[in-house]
Amino acid sequence: MPQSSPSRIEAHDPLWQAQMTIRLDFNAMLKPVLGEAHGLDAGELFALQPAIDKVHQQITMREGRGSEFLGFLDLPFQSEDEISAIEATADRLAALGDSHVILGIGGSFLGARALIEALTHPYRNELPRSAREGRPKIYWEGNNVDPDSMASLLGLLPTTQPRDIERAFTLNVISKSGTTLETAVAFRIFHERVRQVYGPDYAPYIVATTDESKGKLRALADEKGFETFAIPDDVGGRYSVLTPVGLLPAAVAGIDIHALLAGARFMADRCSNADLHENPAYLYAALQFLAVAKGYDVSLMASWTKRLEFFGFWYDQLAAESLGKEEKGRVPLTSVNTRDLHARGQQIQEGQRNTVVTNLLVSKPNHDVEIPLVEGDPDGLNYVAGKTLSEVTAKALEGTVFAYAREGRPSMTFVIPELNAFTMGQLIYLFELATVTEGYLMGINPLDQPGVEAYKRFMFANLGRADMQEARDEFEARPKSSPEFIV
Ligand code: PA5
Repeated sequence: MPQSSPSRIEAHDPLWQAQMTIRLDFNAMLKPVLGEAHGLDAGELFALQPAIDKVHQQITMREGRGSEFLGFLDLPFQSEDEISAIEATADRLAALGDSHVILGIGGSFLGARALIEALTHPYRNELPRSAREGRPKIYWEGNNVDPDSMASLLGLLPTTQPRDIERAFTLNVISKSGTTLETAVAFRIFHERVRQVYGPDYAPYIVATTDESKGKLRALADEKGFETFAIPDDVGGRYSVLTPVGLLPAAVAGIDIHALLAGARFMADRCSNADLHENPAYLYAALQFLAVAKGYDVSLMASWTKRLEFFGFWYDQLAAESLGKEEKGRVPLTSVNTRDLHARGQQIQEGQRNTVVTNLLVSKPNHDVEIPLVEGDPDGLNYVAGKTLSEVTAKALEGTVFAYAREGRPSMTFVIPELNAFTMGQLIYLFELATVTEGYLMGINPLDQPGVEAYKRFMFANLGRADMQEARDEFEARPKSSPEFIV
């Protein structure tokens, strides 16, 4: 069912690992391809090496800003025992119910979903249980307060104890703080449904992933006897995909999490060398940093497979929440091509010169489709007959990069040999490390998110939370809207 997860042997075979190495082609960022007026200067790029060396020291010695949250660097090296415990729980949940509801938001949502979308069947919930190899359908809630979506999912779930596993469901609630409103409200609602359906012995149907000791969710889980997994103190939400936050949902969906971590270790090893010519994370950070300095303050991640769209959303959050502070930080966006060439293509090609495109290309898809030859050529497409869709994708990418480059529009391309757990592990580690590196080059703390608290204060105040009187007073004293300016 997981699409092309390498076996454990493959994930440890050096030859296979070398073939799975992700490469960054940044020719179309530089003057020789982009031209003098708009290309970056390679000399200027590599002149950032001393600054990178300093950042490397800050990261490896854990002495930069926010270094108390650099624990994500250790996650690829967690013990086999920890991983096996996650797998055992995943198997237990899969055996209890054929639907699995995952509640979480932000860093407690996007990475897990990115893994499952990248590595399992694109229409997995529509497959019969046997075709999913006994792994449950996955549903996501607690990432919003959208009543339609929540009510619809509640409508799919049983209200009385089901007789067969096909109707049974389990619940995983993920929240590091244990207090995030969206997730906590959803948990209150789904918790009640689980209790209603399974009666007094409902605890085995719920798993909680939260702080080791703090927060309301921890207290509730301990009191009710739910199985729990802890998110390490030194790992921030959006850097937590390689903790049980991402690993448990991935394992429930049948993804080989050993291979995932092997991929992350492989990238960690590549990135132990500070040399910009060798280290793709430092190189990517340096390229984006230099591009912003030249006025390119929008970055568009363009995945050339639908399966990486959620990876793009995961990266949007990682970059936006990590780098958008102190009135700095590029604006990260996500697109899927060729779909969004019909939406954003015009703007990238001829709009403001403010965007750097990062392409994600998977060289070999898990499945391919050949375009048939049709007699009489009624639609005039026989010139592509015999080609596969992946060949068309590769040609479309080459054409797009050239079309951008001849107008001095910068782009770069990560070439991913295949989509599997090992390459996904590489990608996650690479982009996490690149984000911290870019933040340190910018002189900001890429590991905190003080700005996110502002909306929460006024939302809690408006909802009547007792300890928010001061915020409520401030809200009431706000400049009033005039009906004159509402049409
Ligand atoms: O990166 C972060 O810290 C945030 O995006 C959090 O992951 C998000 O707000 C969810 O928080 P929590 O896991 O505490 O519910």
